[in-house]
Amino acid sequence: MTSNACHKSVERTLDCDAPGQPQAWHFPSGFLWGAATSSHQVEGNNRWNDWWAFEQSGRLPYVSGHACRHYELYEQDFDLARSWGHNAHRFSIEWSRIEPDEGKWNRDAIAHYSAVSRALKERGLEPVVTLHHFTNPAWFTHSGGWLRRDSAKRFSRYAAYVVEHLGKDVRYWLTMNEPTVYVLQSYINGEWPPCMKKSWINASIAFKNLARAHVAAYGKLHQFRRDIMVGFAHSALLLMPCDPRRKRDRIATFLRDLILNRAFFYLIGARGENLRRGQCLDFIGINYYTRSMIRSVGWGLGALTGQACHLSHHSHSGPVSDIGWELYPRGLRMVLEKFSRFGIPLFVTENGVATNDEVLRCDFMIQHLQSLADALESGANVIGYLYWTLMDNYEWTMGTDPHFGLAAVDSKTQERRPRPCSEDFKRICSENRMPVSAG
Ligand code: FCB
Repeated sequence: MTSNACHKSVERTLDCDAPGQPQAWHFPSGFLWGAATSSHQVEGNNRWNDWWAFEQSGRLPYVSGHACRHYELYEQDFDLARSWGHNAHRFSIEWSRIEPDEGKWNRDAIAHYSAVSRALKERGLEPVVTLHHFTNPAWFTHSGGWLRRDSAKRFSRYAAYVVEHLGKDVRYWLTMNEPTVYVLQSYINGEWPPCMKKSWINASIAFKNLARAHVAAYGKLHQFRRDIMVGFAHSALLLMPCDPRRKRDRIATFLRDLILNRAFFYLIGARGENLRRGQCLDFIGINYYTRSMIRSVGWGLGALTGQACHLSHHSHSGPVSDIGWELYPRGLRMVLEKFSRFGIPLFVTENGVATNDEVLRCDFMIQHLQSLADALESGANVIGYLYWTLMDNYEWTMGTDPHFGLAAVDSKTQERRPRPCSEDFKRICSENRMPVSAG
């Protein structure tokens, strides 16, 4: 690798090729590349959690069933990831398998996840472990779930048990995935278990308890191993006013951003800029998919925090994915720059597109990586990028229609069929560089 720096700001992060050679971004050495998954979406037969119970009782539109049978097929799936040049992989531990009844630990399940972490390491893939990705043990939800004051204690007891068994193999931990989205979907929109609608008080109780759970788990994880890196995966939705000239839209965008992008950080104590180590976050997982244009409408809440405007009259509107999410690559750079204010490393823990158009998928990835490279160049400290997702899976209340995977999955034979984008990504991961003009 040539190390001629293009200009000063590049030196720290991205090296460019020597003059006369085709220019390429060289990502920082040790950059983590891979894909992300979550237990309930891929494992299959997660019968001890609240999602399963709600699926079976018909309160959710789709059942997860065997999903990708990843619980059994994980080794072959990791072989695939290794063959694609990945050096990291994000998976989540299914709390309900580890603790199927309150206080009773399932030794087979913890042995399974230890084997999963080892299987990753043997293949040169750095494990990135999520402790909570939307699902809870059924007993936990039955007994009040995140509305109970002792929920944080229950969660941190589970975190302590897991780190005791996996801690020596796992350095990167995410206590939870997208707590803001989880609370909105479960207590306001009523779409996810426990399916409560417009339950504002419950939403705020659950939100606070999730924050307390993060802080408690952070402590437990650090007790086990000092050099551990603990964060949470934040849904970094980019919010912009529908009409930037309209004051009401600007205010609504600001307020919505406070709730979606700032409140949880505030609750866990990440209040200022430039956090010191030990302040409950060692890195931030950034899940970035899209932007939302905010329009203030009518009176009341609709005026205060606005509504998402789905018209395509906004500046630089991008195409939309199969599930209606606008593709807005430059937003990745914007959110990375925004969360840089905390002064701790950022890790893109999810970014992907639901599409059947493979040209679009490749363009999506390349353009987002260019945007990430721009953020690095402007000084953001980004340590890795994980594409969502390794293979098509159970996409929550949208079932199996959205196709986010680097591989398609035949639901009958469980055959994985790599998509063209996995090859483009492979070149980038294995060379740790990307042509500047790619895409
Ligand atoms: C994220 C979730 C992940 C998946 C993707 C498409 O918000 O974390 O489980 O559903 O969206």
